[in-house]
This record gives sequence, C-alpha cells and structure tokens, in this order.
Amino acid sequence: MHFCDIVSPVLNQLFFDVYINKYSVSTDLDLSFQGGFNLASPYYIDHFVGSNVSGHIQVDVGPSKRSLPERANAILNGLEIYRINGAAIFHPNFRKKELLAVVFIGFFLGTLFFLFVLVVLIVLACQKWRSQRLSCPIDSSAQCSPLPVFSGNSYSRIIEMATPRAVAFSTSNLSLKIPLSEILLATNYFQEQFQIGSGGFGKVYKGILRDGTPIAVKRGARGSQQGLQEFRAEVELLTKIRHRHLVSLIGYCTEQSEMILAYEFMGKGPLRSHLYGANHNPPLSWKQRLHVCIGSARGLHYLHTCSCQPIIHRDVKSTNILIDEKYIAKVADFGLSRMGPHLNQTHVSTCVKGSFGYLDPEYFKTQQLTEKSDVYSFGVVMLEVLCARPVIDQSLPWEQINLAEWSVHCLNKGNLDRIVDPCLKGKVDSMSLKKFGETAERCLAQYGVDRPAMGDVLWNLEYVLQIHESKHCQQSLSQQC
Ligand SMILES: Nc1ncnc2c1ncn2[C@@H]1O[C@H](COP(=O)(O)OP(=O)(O)OP(=O)(O)O)[C@@H](O)[C@H]1O
Ligand SMILES: [Mg+2]
Repeated sequence: MHFCDIVSPVLNQLFFDVYINKYSVSTDLDLSFQGGFNLASPYYIDHFVGSNVSGHIQVDVGPSKRSLPERANAILNGLEIYRINGAAIFHPNFRKKELLAVVFIGFFLGTLFFLFVLVVLIVLACQKWRSQRLSCPIDSSAQCSPLPVFSGNSYSRIIEMATPRAVAFSTSNLSLKIPLSEILLATNYFQEQFQIGSGGFGKVYKGILRDGTPIAVKRGARGSQQGLQEFRAEVELLTKIRHRHLVSLIGYCTEQSEMILAYEFMGKGPLRSHLYGANHNPPLSWKQRLHVCIGSARGLHYLHTCSCQPIIHRDVKSTNILIDEKYIAKVADFGLSRMGPHLNQTHVSTCVKGSFGYLDPEYFKTQQLTEKSDVYSFGVVMLEVLCARPVIDQSLPWEQINLAEWSVHCLNKGNLDRIVDPCLKGKVDSMSLKKFGETAERCLAQYGVDRPAMGDVLWNLEYVLQIHESKHCQQSLSQQC
C-alpha cells in the first residue's frame, strides 16, 4: 500500500486506520511521523494476506479515533498486489490430504524437470565431443604440415580427410562465419542455374545476400583435391589482409561438414574469358589489358611486401585474376599461398604446387619457393594477355604448344609480330608492345635472381601504359589537324 500526504498544511494533523478484508492492519497511522517528519514524503506498507474464497481482496482506509472531527480524513495513493501461487499451503485451514497431494505433485514435476535438464546436458556434451573429435587430427603422424599462423591466436592442426570434414579456425575468423541457411537462401539451395563455374575446389555459384549484396559461393566438393588445408589457408589469409586488388572474402561456412567460401562477386569473371576460349567475351582493348595487368601486379606486389615475410600466391594464372563490373582486376584464390622466406633466408622448401604452364621451372626442379615464382607465373599471364592464347595448346605445332617457351623464342629473335593477338595488330603502338614483351620476357628468366621483383614489373607496366597513352594522344591530335 502506497501513501503520501500532499493534503495536510502542517505535520501531525492526519490520523487514519487501514483495513484489509475488514481486519485492521494499521491504526492511527500518522504519515508525517512515518515520512521522517516531512510532509509529502512517500511511504509504503507491505502486508501478506491469504486469499479468501471469493478471490477478492478488500482494502479500506478510514479516520481513526484520534482524528479531530473537522480533520477526519484518510489517504491511500496506490496498491501493488503480488499473487503467490500455492501460498494456500500456509492457510491454517488447509487439509493434510491436500498438502500431501501438493507435495507429491511438486516432487513429480521437480523430478521431470531434473530429468529434462539432465538429457539436455548429455545431448550437448555428446555434440561437443563429436565436434572436437572431427576437428582434431585422427593421426598425429599424418603427413600434412600445419600452415603458418600469422598472429598469436589459438590454432588447431587439421589434416585432409574426404569425409566427414570439419575445420578449426582461430577465433579472429569467427566474425566471418555465415550460417548455412544464409548461403542456401542466397543460392536458392545451390540451384544449378546459379552455378557460374567450377574448379579444383568445387562448384562456384552466384548468390545474393538478403541485403542485396551479390556474392560468389565456392562449395568444396567431397574428395576435393584442394581440400581442407587450402580452405583453411584461404580463410586465415583473407581475414588478415585486404587490398583493392585482392578479391575479398565475405564469409565462410563449415556447418554440416560443408566447406563454403563466399567472396565479393566479380561481375566480369576471370581474365581468361576476356582473352580466348569457347564463348569468350569481346576482346579487351590494349588499354584495358594494361589496366588489368597493372591492377593484378599491384595485388601481387602487396602480397609480397605487406609483411616482413612475403606471402607467395603460388597459383597465379588467368583464371585466378578476376575482373569486376568496373573492369578493376583482383587476384583471387589464396588456397595455395605460403609464407615466403624470412629476411635472413633465401627460400622456403615445399612440395611443388601450382598449375601446368605457369609453373616456375626453378621451383619445379629445386622445390625451393621464393616470391620470384609468382613473378614467373605473372610473366606467363602477361603473355596470355599479349597473345590471347592458352598457355598449353596441344592443337598447335610442337614448338608452339607451350606459350612461355614459344614466346620467349620469338621475343629473342625480335619476332613479336608472330605472337601478338591479331585483334591488337595495327591498333597498338609497337613501342608499347615491345616494352610489354620485354617485361614479360624478364619475368620468365630461368633463374629467380634474374627476374624483376613485382614492384619493378608494376613500374614497367605503368611505363608501357604511359607510352600507349602518349602515342594515342599524338594520333588523335594529328587526326584533328
Ligand atoms: N569471386 C568470384 N566472382 C565471380 N566469379 C567467380 C569468382 N570466383 C570464381 N568465379 C568463377 O568460378 C570459376 C571457377 O573458379 P575456381 O577458382 O574454383 O577455379 P579455377 O580458378 O578455374 O581453377 P583452380 O581450381 O585451378 O583455381 C572462375 O573461372 C570464375 O568464372
Ligand atoms: Mg580460381
């Protein structure tokens, strides 16, 4: 019961009685005394009452015997009622039989609740044990070596197994986890019409997230050659580095033994599809090709220089250079990437990985990896851009099958014309083509030490673009005169 005397002009003028269910619970209540000799101070009284048969509570206030007749008054400002179920057992009239029934029901319900909690705990413990079992190595002597971790997060070693699969990540990557339900919604349950490609890792789908963001979803195939290690390497790397010319990872999903990667969607697809092949896009102009090469060279240069230990991509090729709607090129697929040598080392020893036609012969022979292996592969990509033909073409005469070998042979002999894409002939200044060819040739040097660093390649490509643009400017000026 809440009281507050905001009526009396002076203290000790108002006395009243309070009744609940017609029983007196307070007599001669003087609010000025209860309120610490202050007027207008709020005051409350708590009472515990058993409910009567009617289920009603009757509260009355009325003048007490001490009230002066001219001041007879009473105040009740508010009521708060808390109902306590089961409180009937405190009622003096409660019978023993009913009390026993209440105790029995309470005991029965309590036991049921306890059993339910126990079952839930057992199920949770089983799930946890199962997931730990899947994410831990089955055999610690397995050949796979752990990939490097770039920060001090907790790290679990994983080995490649066909199925079931599970992946453990450092906690810093958890923010990129996407629920499977989101991926299913985005790709319409991996509907075939949404498939845009497939590679060594599995099928690639286009998806649209609920906020309208387009994504490319890579779904690891069962028994994928690239498998768990690459999946993990990709997530570990792309959550730590971001660059305008590296395809960003939007998220990943490992629910239900899936290995799913979601990337920013690159609307114009891989560079290769703009150069040659079945259903390839209209050929890119020379300027567009140079911008694509400059963009991807920037991405690789960043990888090689972003930390004290270079990151080596190891799978630079024209399907791993993707182009967005604005024709900005970005390097993709970091699954094979490795940390390069420390400053005091010259190379990292590793089993050979990469793609045919792009593989650095020195790395192939020695298994010693440096960032110059990426430079070699990038040189092959530059030749694809210049010649618009596959890196290995079995349909050509024997000496021409391998693009790198054939091009270097022609460039050495000064026969640039024999290899240049017919679409470019007559449209591009020969100086610009020559400088471009020379740069590619230097990237393909037999030994890494003779190849330029990615920074030099970038500088040369920018120079080629300058030559092209200044010649283009001169041409249009002379046409105007
Ligand atoms: N982020 C993306 N945006 C748009 N399309 C993409 C994206 N990633 C991949 N694709 C498409 O999916 C195709 C397959 O890509 P994927 O990387 O799986 O294989 P690949 O690069 O062709 O071969 P490999 O497995 O040897 O790397 C690409 O050629 C491209 O068409
Ligand atoms: Mg790829």
